[in-house]
Amino acid sequence: MSAFASEFFSIRVMLAGDLDAVLELERRCHVSPWSAQLFEEELSRNYSTVDLLWQSQRLVGYLCSWQICDELHILNVAVDPSFRRRGLGRLLLSHVLDRSCASGCTRALLEVRAGNSGALCLYQGFDFKIIGRRAKYYPDGEDALVMEREISCD
Ligand SMILES: CC(C)(COP(=O)(O)OP(=O)(O)OC[C@H]1O[C@@H](n2cnc3c(N)ncnc32)[C@H](O)[C@@H]1OP(=O)(O)O)[C@@H](O)C(=O)NCCC(=O)NCCS
Repeated sequence: MSAFASEFFSIRVMLAGDLDAVLELERRCHVSPWSAQLFEEELSRNYSTVDLLWQSQRLVGYLCSWQICDELHILNVAVDPSFRRRGLGRLLLSHVLDRSCASGCTRALLEVRAGNSGALCLYQGFDFKIIGRRAKYYPDGEDALVMEREISCD
């Protein structure tokens, strides 16, 4: 069933039947949550993957990414507020980076709110570097930082 399994947590790819659980968690994690339509569009794209992190039957996190040629684009990552700072964001990101390496990606890119210090720390811990800033990128006027890192299978 799962691409990854530990004693307590498992990761598998999102299916259409997971939509309600994903939306419920999305609304608790983001200021501007994605709509059902946005997740449905991701499910329909052959280059998009939404990885779901479960504690038994409970959805506790997810990460949406695109693989386009040799680039991995990270679009959305979230962990249930009551499960944060336990290494689960790191677990999701490691899982996706490892898979992308195995499927030929050589670099990863993402955008993050300039004021999202927690997410910035998470990404910097994976050696993502800031390579640009998009002014007023988000609907509420906050800037986005563009981050990048190389991917190698070493
Ligand atoms: C960002 C997010 C996914 C991190 O998930 P998490 O499971 O708490 O992250 P981890 O426990 O794996 O943290 C790994 C490291 O990232 C850094 N980090 C994570 N959250 C942090 C915070 N709030 N403040 C400072 N550093 C933080 C730390 O270096 C941490 O390591 P440490 O706990 O050993 O110090 C989570 O806070 C979240 O869902 N936030 C809301 C959605 C969001 O902002 N997503 C990112 C933009 S799309």
